[in-house]
Amino acid sequence: MTATDYDNFADAYAAENESGLFNAYYERPAMLRLADDVSGRRILDAGCGSGPLSAALRARGAVVTSFDVSAAMVNLARQRLGEDADLHVADLSKPLPFADAEFDDVVASLVLHYLEDWSGPLAELHRVLKPGGRLILSVMHPAGFPVTHPDDDYFALTKYSEDYIMDGQTVWLTFWHRPLHAMSDAFAAAGFRIVTISEPPPSPDTPAEMLPPDKVKGSGSFMCFLFFVLESA
Ligand SMILES: C[S@@+](CC[C@H](N)C(=O)[O-])C[C@H]1O[C@@H](n2cnc3c(N)ncnc32)[C@H](O)[C@@H]1O
Repeated sequence: MTATDYDNFADAYAAENESGLFNAYYERPAMLRLADDVSGRRILDAGCGSGPLSAALRARGAVVTSFDVSAAMVNLARQRLGEDADLHVADLSKPLPFADAEFDDVVASLVLHYLEDWSGPLAELHRVLKPGGRLILSVMHPAGFPVTHPDDDYFALTKYSEDYIMDGQTVWLTFWHRPLHAMSDAFAAAGFRIVTISEPPPSPDTPAEMLPPDKVKGSGSFMCFLFFVLESA
């Protein structure tokens, strides 16, 4: 997968993201809960996709700037957010077109796991955040990797691909697995302090028939994504 592969299945991904269990009832509600009161805050949505999180943050009073490497995803976000939305095509692996200390918060939903190297991206996100600003992010839960890839080494940075059915279309996504300590080391090296690690349950309004019975444990939670709230030092 190249960084712009979402150009090839932007519509299918956006449709799946809109109402599917993992995004609509799990990931997005969790990010919004972690962000809490965002009224008046300047927020950068990194890897915004078709913009559902940007829209939800804006509806809660945030002033949102968004970017994605995929022009097709940014087009979808523009349709959702309107012509005057502050939207950019930009690559998180390269220098970002934003000023130092421009944002109170950065949200990065399900994007960092596409990147082999986190040092440059995290340094850039640190640069555009105000001192004390928050980076709120979600990634594939690293503990899921040894379950799905029992022959691979949990402790190694590893590239892997998986196929997904999105809106009836089969698409291949390529990820970079890294162990938990490599994530925390990268956060610390970029000048972030971990405030919260979250493994939340799905949203209470999830329709029961959407929940995978084999995955939901007694706590009502399931292994899927891992969430962090970081503070910029
Ligand atoms: C799983 S989607 C998540 C979209 C959105 N954050 C959400 O949760 O609805 C991942 C997004 O990350 C974007 N992406 C992947 N690599 C990127 C990069 N290097 N820079 C910016 N965006 C990237 C993809 O184009 C895609 O839109």
